[in-house]
Amino acid sequence: MKVHIDAQNTIKYEKAGTHEHNRYEKIHNVVFEKSSKASYLVAKEIADLIREKNKKGETCVLGLATGSSPIRVYDELVKMHKNEGLSFKNVVTFNLDEYYPMNAESIHSYHYFMNEHLFNHIDIPKDQINIPDGTTDQDEITSYCKAYEEKIAKYGGLDFQLLGIGRTGHIGFNEPGSHYNSITRSITLDQLTREDAAPSFLGIENVPKKAITMGVGTVFSAKRIVLLAWGHKKASVLKETIEGEISPQIPATYLQEHNNTTFVLDTEAASLLTRFESPWLVGEVTWTDAMTKRAVVWLCDKVEKSILRLTDKDYNEHGLASLITEKGSSYELNIEMFNKLQHTITGWPGGKPNADDTNRPERKSPEKKRVIIFSPHPDDDVISMGGTFDRLVEQGHEVHIAYQTSGNIAVSNADALKYAEVAMDFLPEGEELEKIKEVVTGINKKKENETDAISVRELKGLIRKRESIAATRYFNVPDTQVHFLNLPFYETGTVKKNPLGPDDIQIVRDLIASVKPHQVYAAGDLADPHGTHKVCLDAVFKAMAELKPEPFMNDCWLWLYRGAWHEWEIHEIDMAVPMSPDQVLRKRKAIFFHQTQKDGVLFQGEDLREFWVRAEDRNKKTAQHYRDLGLADYAAIEAFKRFDY
Ligand code: F6R
Repeated sequence: MKVHIDAQNTIKYEKAGTHEHNRYEKIHNVVFEKSSKASYLVAKEIADLIREKNKKGETCVLGLATGSSPIRVYDELVKMHKNEGLSFKNVVTFNLDEYYPMNAESIHSYHYFMNEHLFNHIDIPKDQINIPDGTTDQDEITSYCKAYEEKIAKYGGLDFQLLGIGRTGHIGFNEPGSHYNSITRSITLDQLTREDAAPSFLGIENVPKKAITMGVGTVFSAKRIVLLAWGHKKASVLKETIEGEISPQIPATYLQEHNNTTFVLDTEAASLLTRFESPWLVGEVTWTDAMTKRAVVWLCDKVEKSILRLTDKDYNEHGLASLITEKGSSYELNIEMFNKLQHTITGWPGGKPNADDTNRPERKSPEKKRVIIFSPHPDDDVISMGGTFDRLVEQGHEVHIAYQTSGNIAVSNADALKYAEVAMDFLPEGEELEKIKEVVTGINKKKENETDAISVRELKGLIRKRESIAATRYFNVPDTQVHFLNLPFYETGTVKKNPLGPDDIQIVRDLIASVKPHQVYAAGDLADPHGTHKVCLDAVFKAMAELKPEPFMNDCWLWLYRGAWHEWEIHEIDMAVPMSPDQVLRKRKAIFFHQTQKDGVLFQGEDLREFWVRAEDRNKKTAQHYRDLGLADYAAIEAFKRFDY
């Protein structure tokens, strides 16, 4: 797909839709392989603007956003301040929004966020910072908002506005229904927006229902707008925003009319744009194997036919004439693609001994492999690949499980209290261990917004450890092959984690070096750059890259599974492991051992289904998709992608 990614060293504005490859698009956008590079370039654009204004003795007026998207941009600006002497003395900032009601000191406030990520680390005079005040009296909000608008206007308007986009299509907190010329005002948050914010508030009930936000009109008056979006979660709203019609239902679509807006995206966020999803519709493509597989699966979905039923006419009528020209006929192409997909299916994820492995996803030898399954949290292993895990053990491989983080933050206080009180009850009166008493008092005294005491976190981690061991024992893995890595980056006691550090990588590296695996499985969630899964994956990538010169690494294959949130697309799958109805039940039971994560978990997200239901739905859907393509009809399939590290 690399060929379709735009110029990599600039985000300079161009009128949208001017190239053949983006003629479906109404907003200029640039797409980067990595959000880190993109963030650097955005920071550089801001820094250049500040310097240019400074030279002219002018004030630079910046509109700023919070949320996960701009974090890296702020990191880069801080670096530029520290290393290159970039000064913010001539900068005035206006933040887009703040929750309402909200104290500036709260860790959930956007005031706190901005101080943490930017303002505390640069030389901006405090009186040049403007963030809507979440403590404004209800009956003063209208005049407060008017004054906020007037202050922006007094500075001559915003020179540069940084934006993120919500899954509702909001910019700032301008939720669906917002008018294109709306100004700063109070707004009721959309349910989806509140659900997205729920994890950092430890539950949707703690997320404020309202906010104060700049209006669409306020944003629109900026001379330059850059919107950032990373990860597949944003892909569908971005497609609607960039390719759809302007509509108040997706306020970000108003940006189609702004004449200096650029969306800066990573490949996952851009993945549903026509030029990425079905590039053959927008121009010439090189028909590599991967592209061909993708086009054929896409065509089957489009015309609702299985592969072997596709005709020349189907290909021609759906923009795929060049594929037929290149391959000769639909008949031959269909058979070739059918076989390719057929060969991804195997009941032998560790390789089938004594069989011809030319067309199998895994090697037959060594017959008994050493395997490490890396699981970011203590349950991703069974949720995402429980069936394959079970088979690997059953087929005699030496399976090690490595739980990368303690997962302690996802255990509720009620659950922790339950275990601590059982221990209290069990010990004779007067002989209760100090530590247990400390945990019970710690939980009972904890105020909202306070992080857990270390002992409470420790207990929560141990609860998850014991749940995991119950599940791995159920799959007959010896306890000695179950490793709890407790990676340090995770242990902040809050939703916000530390960046990946050398200690984390060393721990992962040591385990790989001691097991010398033939297969490594890891959670391949590339989406959220700040999410625990991505950090855990980076730890595996980095450790494996460091170990690459070791001879045993020549025999080590890396397979990526996907988490509870989404699945590989059919064209991306290199190994599909089918499950019988009985195996589906075994997997379900293994997930059930993770009791603290059942029945209304702390980090539910927008998907209200329990993890085992999500896993079953996802595996069933993959199986149905294979069946619809004309392949065998299985109850469920787990999917993997082989990764060249
Ligand atoms: C933040 C804001 C919001 C966010 C949007 C995306 O100040 O106004 O519009 O930009 O909700 O949030 P993230 O970046 O966390 O996905």
